[in-house]
Amino acid sequence: MKALVYHGPETKAWEEVPKPTITDDTDAIVRVDATTICGSDLHILKGDVPEVTDGRILGHEAVGTVESVGSGVKHVKAGDRVLVSCITACGACRFCRESRFSQCLGGGGWILGHLIDGTQAEYVRVPFADTSTYPVPDGVDDEALLMLADILPTGYEVGALNGTVQPGDVVAVIGAGPVGLSAILGAKLSTPAHIVAIDLADSRLEAAKQFGADITVNNSSEDPAAVLAEITDGLGADVTIEAVGIPSTFDLAVSLARPGGHIANIGVHGKPVTLHLEDLWSKNVTITTGLVDTFSTPMLLKLLQGQHLDAKRFVTHRFELDEFETAYDVFARSADTGALKVVLSRPAPSD
Ligand SMILES: NC(=O)c1ccc[n+]([C@@H]2O[C@H](COP(=O)([O-])OP(=O)(O)OC[C@H]3O[C@@H](n4cnc5c(N)ncnc54)[C@H](O)[C@@H]3O)[C@@H](O)[C@H]2O)c1
Ligand SMILES: [Zn+2]
Ligand SMILES: [Zn+2]
Repeated sequence: MKALVYHGPETKAWEEVPKPTITDDTDAIVRVDATTICGSDLHILKGDVPEVTDGRILGHEAVGTVESVGSGVKHVKAGDRVLVSCITACGACRFCRESRFSQCLGGGGWILGHLIDGTQAEYVRVPFADTSTYPVPDGVDDEALLMLADILPTGYEVGALNGTVQPGDVVAVIGAGPVGLSAILGAKLSTPAHIVAIDLADSRLEAAKQFGADITVNNSSEDPAAVLAEITDGLGADVTIEAVGIPSTFDLAVSLARPGGHIANIGVHGKPVTLHLEDLWSKNVTITTGLVDTFSTPMLLKLLQGQHLDAKRFVTHRFELDEFETAYDVFARSADTGALKVVLSRPAPSD
């Protein structure tokens, strides 16, 4: 089969690799029907995620069709259509029992496209298939569903919920990529008074308006602190959400929060960041970090089915599976291309 293989920083190739086989009796082999690229894949390619080693197939989001399952898989069977979550869960360890699947002690967590081969391939081996996939509900569009593999639970759990967005809050979201936009959608569920989106790219800020930000700030030319001061009597945001993953945006998230405010970090960081406790110790702020658990996926699925979540709006570009080189280029140059999520799909069988 063909897959997108990482060969060290800045190097990747769509190449022939062995098709995966069942190695544990709780595995499923899933034919990938649609997959996408995450900002975390760009961090991997920058060399920010050193656990990803040469030869790894990237990708942690997919909708697909189960081809075969191991003897220990009870609820998923060949032919089922499934959402493959970015987080794998053994279902039995202490953290899985607490719905903290990202911290799974039984061999799960963020493993796909990270510690084991991932979804940017024609086929993927999904461990713990019963507890790491969701059946595709009738009437739900594949592309919309794919947005629930990672970005929507991430923005909601690690952004809105960790930031404890309350009705009437002023929420500042730094980074209006797919994850920041998901945080905007997640924050909106709690009816904040204002959502301020901050990004360097006007195309992303335009998208932020469509996803529900009422104020946008291009921090290459405008001062976000001044904009926030104006709408908060000089106090700063109730909640800031960092969705970029570089030191300067974490600093910005901390500096824009009001005393007693919440700073929710979502970004994957590859470099150390200085925490200015000499300023912060007396500010009563709460800083949270998080790898998405995906415990909210069933709830988000209900919102999607009830037409309360416009997930398909994320999809700006569509490619066939073998067009990964172009798809990565379009996603990485989002400021020029206007890309949000790029979907790569298996070509429909010809008649
Ligand atoms: N914690 C988790 O579980 C989790 C899950 C998924 C993704 N992530 C991380 O979330 C982050 C965002 O992911 P994405 O897919 O939206 O990425 P992305 O690369 O598409 O978007 C990042 C955005 O940040 C903007 N940006 C860059 N530098 C900036 C600056 N100095 N000031 C303001 N904006 C700036 C870019 O213009 C871009 O719009 C990444 O770090 C990704 O790795 C974390
Ligand atoms: Zn991701
Ligand atoms: Zn577990």
